[in-house]
Amino acid sequence: MQDLAGKVAVVTGAGSGIGLALAGRLAREGMRVALADVDDHALAQAAESLRAAGAEAAAVLTQRCDVTSERDVTDLADHVFATWGAVDVLCNNAGVFVGGFMWERPPADFEFVLGVNLWGIVHGIRAFVPRMLERGAEGHIVNTCSVAGMLGSPISGPYGVSKFAALAATEALALDLAVVESKLKVTALCPGMVRTNLGATSQENRPAALGAPLTEDAKFANDALAQYLDEGIAAESVADRVLDAIRTERFLVLTHPHHADVLRARVEQLIAGQLPDPADFR
Ligand SMILES: NC(=O)c1ccc[n+]([C@@H]2O[C@H](COP(=O)([O-])OP(=O)(O)OC[C@H]3O[C@@H](n4cnc5c(N)ncnc54)[C@H](O)[C@@H]3O)[C@@H](O)[C@H]2O)c1
Repeated sequence: MQDLAGKVAVVTGAGSGIGLALAGRLAREGMRVALADVDDHALAQAAESLRAAGAEAAAVLTQRCDVTSERDVTDLADHVFATWGAVDVLCNNAGVFVGGFMWERPPADFEFVLGVNLWGIVHGIRAFVPRMLERGAEGHIVNTCSVAGMLGSPISGPYGVSKFAALAATEALALDLAVVESKLKVTALCPGMVRTNLGATSQENRPAALGAPLTEDAKFANDALAQYLDEGIAAESVADRVLDAIRTERFLVLTHPHHADVLRARVEQLIAGQLPDPADFR
C-alpha cells in the first residue's frame, strides 16, 4: 500500500509505547486512526497527543477494548466500520510480558499472557479480516509479535510461548491470504528491546482473577525486563520501520541488525540437533 492519506487504521494497545508511536506515525501520514486500549486514561492521553501533533479531531477515534474479549474486539470492528466504512491498516499490537521458570509459573500466567498476546491477535483477525476481504481493496495487517517469538530465552517461557504462537498465527494468516490471492498483506513486527512501559502495564492490566504469586524467578525476569527496556530503542523508530514495511509489503520486520545473525545461528544450531544459544534480545 503506497497511499495512506485519508484511509483508516486501527491500533490496539494504542495507549502506550509501540502502539502509541504507530498510531502517531499513521496519523502523520494523514490516516484516520482508531485507538483501542484496555486503559481508558492512557487512551484519552494518546488521543490528546495525536491531536496536539496536528491530527484533526474527527480523524481520531478511541474505544476501550480488552483484546482478550472476542466481544470487545468485534464491537471495536463494528464501531470503526460503522463510523468510517472501512479499515485499511489493522495493527494487532496490544501485549503483556510474563516471565519465570517454566516449572514455577502457574496456569494463570499462561492464561493471562496467551489471552492478550495470542487471542488478541486471533480475535483481531476474525473481527476485521473478513470485512477487509469483502471490500476487495488493498490493505495491511500488522501483528506485533517479538524477536522472542523466533528466539528462545531462559526465564521468560510464558512470554516466549505466546510470541512463538503469535508469529505462527501471523505467518498462517499471510499464507492463507496469499492462497486466496487477496490484496491484503501482512507484517510480523518482531522488535527487540524498545523503551516502553511494557513492564509496568503488564502488572497493571492483569485481571485479579488471573493473579499469581510473584516468585523469585518471575521477579528476576521482571527486573531484567525493566533494565533491558530502559536500554531499548525508541518506539518511534519501530513505527518508521512498520510504515516502510506497509509500503514495501515486507513480511518480517526486525528492529536490531544483530538479530539477523542470531536468527541464522539458531537455524544452524537446530539443524545440527543442538539447543540454540540463548538469544541476545537487546
Ligand atoms: N517493548 C519491547 O521491548 C517489546 C519488544 C518486542 C515486542 N513487544 C511487543 O510490543 C507490543 C506493545 O508493547 P509495548 O512495548 O509498546 O508496551 P506498552 O506497555 O508501552 O504498551 C502496551 C499497551 O497495550 C495495552 N494492553 C495491555 N493489555 C491489553 C488488553 N488486554 N487489551 C487492550 N490493550 C491492552 C496496555 O494498556 C498498553 O497501553 C506488545 O505486543 C509487546 O509484547 C515489545
